[in-house]
Amino acid sequence: MIWDQLWNSGIVLSRELDRLLTIPSPTTEAANDTPKDFINPSSIQTILELGTGRGLAGLTAATLLPNAKVVLTDASTESLQNASDAITLNNLQENCSTATLNWFSPSQTFIPADLVIGADVLYLSRAVKAIASLLKTLMTPVTGKALIVDPDRCFAEEFENLCIENNLAVRRVIVEREEIGEGVLGESDANVQCKRFNVFYVSHRIE
Ligand SMILES: C[S@@+](CC[C@H](N)C(=O)[O-])C[C@H]1O[C@@H](n2cnc3c(N)ncnc32)[C@H](O)[C@@H]1O
Repeated sequence: MIWDQLWNSGIVLSRELDRLLTIPSPTTEAANDTPKDFINPSSIQTILELGTGRGLAGLTAATLLPNAKVVLTDASTESLQNASDAITLNNLQENCSTATLNWFSPSQTFIPADLVIGADVLYLSRAVKAIASLLKTLMTPVTGKALIVDPDRCFAEEFENLCIENNLAVRRVIVEREEIGEGVLGESDANVQCKRFNVFYVSHRIE
């Protein structure tokens, strides 16, 4: 199945999580003008990943913050099985689990998370709309944050506008990752070639 692979954005999101959640010293360099105090890692107790795929970003978060509860979600049973296997392989069952969440028809209510993450989930106008609206309810009121990475597809502005419509503040930072590319991840299309990413830092808008 086409989804069943690791996507470049997942690597970029994992690196950004490593930078933001590592206590005390980050191992990865920040892009210029990346928000410095976006997250206080010690205040994060819950993390929810959208469209987890093979689970790299969520597993990274669960490894960096062993005391936080991390839920990896997806609509695909195949992806959830792969993510679940990865949790077991990485011995992260204590603080990491999987759950079904379809952006278009969320069938269960999730406890809002302190941090919502997602890599390469803004690939379709319909998905962008659903996710911008879901974020508002999935992020802990007032203090919750979201970190979304997108491989510079064409929906960045639409996502920003929809976040604002949903009373969310969003800041986009463009990062270039020359070292990520062909030969590293597999054979598929633009995803493999992409070296330019949007990183969206989303918060609630405080009036
Ligand atoms: C491009 S892949 C990215 C996977 C992973 N985040 C990564 O970076 O490697 C998109 C993911 O979104 C999931 N997905 C697609 N449509 C979805 C929907 N309506 N609701 C929830 N997940 C969905 C797919 O199953 C897939 O795992």
